[in-house]
Amino acid sequence: MATPSIEIQITEAELKLLQSLIYQECGMYFDERRAHFLHDRLYRRLKVCGLDTFYGYYRLLTSREGKAELVALLENLTVNETSFFRNKPQLDLFHKVILEELLHRKQERRDWTLRLWSAGCSTGQEAYTIAMLVCDALAYYYLRNPLPFEMPSPKPLIPLPWKVEILASDINYSVLRAAQEAVYPENHLDPVDYSFRLRYFDKVGDKYAVKKPLKDLVHFDFHNLKTEFLPARNDIIFCRNVMIYFDEAEQKRLVEKFYRCLNPEGYLFLGHAESLFGLSDKFRMIHQDNGTSYQRLEGHI
Ligand SMILES: C[S@@+](CC[C@H](N)C(=O)[O-])C[C@H]1O[C@@H](n2cnc3c(N)ncnc32)[C@H](O)[C@@H]1O
Repeated sequence: MATPSIEIQITEAELKLLQSLIYQECGMYFDERRAHFLHDRLYRRLKVCGLDTFYGYYRLLTSREGKAELVALLENLTVNETSFFRNKPQLDLFHKVILEELLHRKQERRDWTLRLWSAGCSTGQEAYTIAMLVCDALAYYYLRNPLPFEMPSPKPLIPLPWKVEILASDINYSVLRAAQEAVYPENHLDPVDYSFRLRYFDKVGDKYAVKKPLKDLVHFDFHNLKTEFLPARNDIIFCRNVMIYFDEAEQKRLVEKFYRCLNPEGYLFLGHAESLFGLSDKFRMIHQDNGTSYQRLEGHI
């Protein structure tokens, strides 16, 4: 069925109303620079819903029956750009310095669990990159610190007694479905070294599928970062290229929540264009070879 063509005018006041509803729902802030994008997405949704007034659409969004439409609108507003091995210098810091420190510290305490969270994971490339690097770091760690017992054969991806839990979450159900499917076009694999491709991917036709053992390490779930209750007791949180869409007040609230969701001395990784400057003094910045991370400082409430 052809969608009716709609020629409606949306006033600035109406756009502001929508802006604040979106902000309230998910923290994304559409200032004047992004008003055009918001406008465009609003028209698209009006078309899909066959509505011809802003008021009718707003009423739908705020009604109980309109929950699915609200989800669809938010999905249309999120920017889902991502890639494997995004921000290599930062991942080198994660892989070679932070994981090394964390494994050592945990082993001393005989705590064999690692919990990592990719918050705002989009289509999963970040979470699978983290998984590959954790497996690699653990294998390397065991080369230098052999186990006091024989490893079962074939060797598991995560050597005993370690237990690795990687949670990856997003507000957008479509990207979560793609992440769970874990099949990527060949050009998405460009940043992935051949040694990683061989170990962790199967070529299926002209695409690459993440191998099951790696896939099984990552658990995908819906979490809205705007809500108060977020997954706790993480050793490391990656929240990269998400906060840039929030305003400063929301960024401060989110960083405070991350502080609480991290284990003592846990680490937070932000996007290349993001920092904690002016947002929080509860973290220590670690900067090495162009990679940056933030470590939770203790003694703060
Ligand atoms: C640009 S992508 C970043 C993906 C990945 N972290 C990276 O850096 O490559 C931003 C992601 O954040 C998600 N997002 C935006 N607002 C969110 C919210 N309130 N809660 C959870 N995820 C959110 C979007 O759906 C999108 O998939």
